[in-house]
Amino acid sequence: MTVESAESTPALGADPGERRTPPYAGGGAPLLGHAGKLLRDPLGFVASLRDHGDLVRLKLGPKTAYAVCDPDLVAALLKSPDFMVGGPLWETLGVLLGKGVATSNGPLHRRQRRTIQPTFRMDRIAEHATVMEEEARAMAARWKPGDTVDIGAEVFRTAVRIVARSVLHVDSIDERADRLGSSLHTVFSGLYRRMVLSVGPFYRLPLPANRRFERALADLHRLVDEIIAQRRASGLNPGDLLAALLDARDENGDSVSEQEVHDQVVSLLVAGAENVASTLTWTFHLLAEHPEQERRMHDEVESATGGRPVAFADLDGLIHTRNVITEAMRVRPGVWILTRQAAVDTELGGYHIPAGADIVYSPFAMQRDPRSFRDHLEFDPDRWLPERAAEVRQSAMMPFSVGNRKCPGDHFSMAELAIILATVTPRWRLVPTTETDTTARIGITLQPKRSLLRVEERK
Ligand code: HEM
Repeated sequence: MTVESAESTPALGADPGERRTPPYAGGGAPLLGHAGKLLRDPLGFVASLRDHGDLVRLKLGPKTAYAVCDPDLVAALLKSPDFMVGGPLWETLGVLLGKGVATSNGPLHRRQRRTIQPTFRMDRIAEHATVMEEEARAMAARWKPGDTVDIGAEVFRTAVRIVARSVLHVDSIDERADRLGSSLHTVFSGLYRRMVLSVGPFYRLPLPANRRFERALADLHRLVDEIIAQRRASGLNPGDLLAALLDARDENGDSVSEQEVHDQVVSLLVAGAENVASTLTWTFHLLAEHPEQERRMHDEVESATGGRPVAFADLDGLIHTRNVITEAMRVRPGVWILTRQAAVDTELGGYHIPAGADIVYSPFAMQRDPRSFRDHLEFDPDRWLPERAAEVRQSAMMPFSVGNRKCPGDHFSMAELAIILATVTPRWRLVPTTETDTTARIGITLQPKRSLLRVEERK
């Protein structure tokens, strides 16, 4: 007997004046519900949900969750004050991010967001770009012709260094960037399991995987404590984001707690490094698989810079490069699943959503939906040329989200991604090797299983 038959769905539209209960997405197993599918084939599963409706009900173990599959309904969800950050993803991420800006809600979120926002203003991004240029050049200078590089690890290290040096002014980041990379890798894999199957006591058993997870998590927190302690000991105030976080005041005018400063730094380091790194890793793989797009990008960079190193001021002219990035984020997004929680008893698309309900949606499924994108699985950067982009339903492509939780690092990221690509391309071509495996490794974000590429010097 399936769960579907065990709990039959109340009739849709039995009373047109009543809000309807969303249809049940069939195929759940007893006890586990859809959790087994989400663990076995998460990408196939989230993409299949749209066949059951625009908004459907799921069972994750004992819990009911709601999946939003229609882009306009997702946009409505993100903009509605009736839904807050919460649900399986954010609850699970809480052990890592605590109550920083990415996980808090209400007045606390508004205050934390006000503290970080000025760092990401356009005029400040021009300052941060100097660090982006230096780090991109340092990465490209490390490689030797014929090297096989783990591009995922390379860009992660570069992204950590950029966020740490530019917005937090942490200069002694060398060994810490690698530590952060390997610890976050372990934590993100473990967190995905905990998100899909929240059976708390199991994860407290002294099993090797649980021990590895706990050690990596403790190391991440220790690393952030070290960064904060070092700044306090220096007595310096370079007027950066870390200084703003240390000086922040709560609504009573009192200094915020040490824990809050810690949680804010973790949130910025994790969000800033992981999302940029997964986007860049996929972009380099897509360019390796599409040499004609890589060649066009190279020609564009050469004609914009005349062979000198790329600078922030060149970015406006790099239209194809920007379209490559946007298209990579569409077809191979790192951020593939996001969740919310209903703050009150409410409705979405005419369906009743009870207070406290968990809501799930997948940018991966939305951005690869054939109803929204022609040739939906093709890597086609030209679809973002103005004359063609007008065809695309706006809500079908929201890689940085919308509403009050929209990514504050959107312009920062676009500058960083373009600078890194335009620094590497004039010097190197990256090509797949027999060891490359671009099957998606599922975690809180998506990454290729083996992101090995060979670097060939461009003649
Ligand atoms: C390609 C790179 C990036 C992508 C695709 C990305 C994507 C996102 C998305 C989709 C959200 C919203 C999540 C939700 O609605 O639940 C978000 C939030 C956030 N991002 Fe980014 N992000 C990127 C880079 C960055 C960078 C570089 C930083 C900072 C240095 C950053 C900091 C944050 C923060 C702090 C939040 C939480 C904002 C809030 O809840 O108010 N992100 N990001």
